[in-house]
Amino acid sequence: MASNFSDIKTSQKPAVFKFFAAGAWTSSATDKFIEIHSPIDNAIVGIVPSVTKEEAEMAVESAKNAQKGWEGMLIHERVDLLHKTAGLIRDNVDLLRDLIILEIGKPFSEAEDEVLRTVDLIDYYAEEGRRLVGDVWESSAFPGYKKNKVAIARRVPLGVVLAIPPFNYPINEGAPKIVAALVSGNTVILKPSTQGTISSLHMVELFRQAGLPDGVLNCVTGKGEDIGDFLVTHPLIDAINLTGSFETADEVAHKAGMKKLLFGLSGKDASIVLADADLVQAADEIAKGSFSYGGQRCTGIKRVLVEEKCHDEFVELLKKSVSKKYILGDPRIKENTLGPIINDRTAGYIAELLEDAVNMGAKVVLGGKREGRNMEATILTEVTKKMRLAWEEPFGPILPVLKVASWEEAVATANQSEYGLQSSVFTKDIDKAWAVAEALEVGSIQINGKDARGPDHFPFTGFKHSGLGMVQGAKYLISEMTRYKTIVMNTKG
Ligand code: G3H
Repeated sequence: MASNFSDIKTSQKPAVFKFFAAGAWTSSATDKFIEIHSPIDNAIVGIVPSVTKEEAEMAVESAKNAQKGWEGMLIHERVDLLHKTAGLIRDNVDLLRDLIILEIGKPFSEAEDEVLRTVDLIDYYAEEGRRLVGDVWESSAFPGYKKNKVAIARRVPLGVVLAIPPFNYPINEGAPKIVAALVSGNTVILKPSTQGTISSLHMVELFRQAGLPDGVLNCVTGKGEDIGDFLVTHPLIDAINLTGSFETADEVAHKAGMKKLLFGLSGKDASIVLADADLVQAADEIAKGSFSYGGQRCTGIKRVLVEEKCHDEFVELLKKSVSKKYILGDPRIKENTLGPIINDRTAGYIAELLEDAVNMGAKVVLGGKREGRNMEATILTEVTKKMRLAWEEPFGPILPVLKVASWEEAVATANQSEYGLQSSVFTKDIDKAWAVAEALEVGSIQINGKDARGPDHFPFTGFKHSGLGMVQGAKYLISEMTRYKTIVMNTKG
């Protein structure tokens, strides 16, 4: 049964949303509001407050005050509350899907998948939380010691976690940060990405309806430039779990001080196609890996490195697959599988990269047209390492193809990037696949499959400028939300 969301906003049109702190939806006293416009047609989806520092302070203090009580609660009671939240999200799939479509322009099926995947994610994370265990150590294992000491290294929560998800997965990147922290006994301040705030506020309300105690989850809204520094430098915040750009993370890292940092960041994922690959399968996977949600995914394939011998055949297959799968249009309509770019600034940046590549000799072999934020699925060949498109992350529907002479050259080119999120390699030769996987400097590698973060229990991290710590994967992220506390029992031996 769908839930009632009347407490989270005013009844005026467009709705003005509240922020959530100490278990209550509160109208902000700020004089600064942010209109959230849909990238589809610029219509206002809602208005959210840029909360004041005093309001953000109230949220942080309530999280701090609630933490010990939440940590002290029985683990199975925490798990039950999370399962209840998953059930409520399942009951509200249609509403959350429609909000995601409006707010970030994600195509219909992908927006629905995001919500359904999150239901399963929360259930899985909740169960994994039951299995969080520490270690027991015996003194006599160490030279010179008798059997007179036993150390119990327990996993205890970090405290208050600041969760900052990106715009492209307001629900599915928000939920793991919240749930991993909560199931292990932390409390949370959620600071949603501005575009994505309204979907996030609805999700927070479902956590509330599930019965979370006051203060355990709080949500403050506003732009990073207004409350970001206040939150990331706050002495009561113990950890920051952020998904976003390297530039933002780098700034946060310099300001945060003695806090645990977990970052999931940008990528320039290379997909390597070797001449012996099943080219039809490779083209299909790369089409999806590159153009789902219009390339606005950290794990989107952002360049293809193809062996010369199969280049032309592969490009033909790729064009065929992309033009069949990706239909540009209003993402509210199920048949349209390619929606708008999130904002004009990004659309302009992508146009710049395209122009630079074409001016330097690249050929547009598919798409290339753009009207405002709506851009056709675009493929470029004859791309060289001199072009910006070979190195920069466009975050949009544009895919450069580069020719390479061998797998060794592909690996060298892939590794030249400042990023190291994920890569994929397509080949039937298991030895080459293994050699490529071993040599790539990335957090994860797909053999004969498109780049992707999920399934959501798989470990996921980024090397180089792509991340810090294990940012996804139920067992790993929950573990990152804890630290060891060792109690040594001294006995007579
Ligand atoms: O944008 C970054 C996301 O973590 C990518 O996730 O591979 O499930 O699309 P995805």
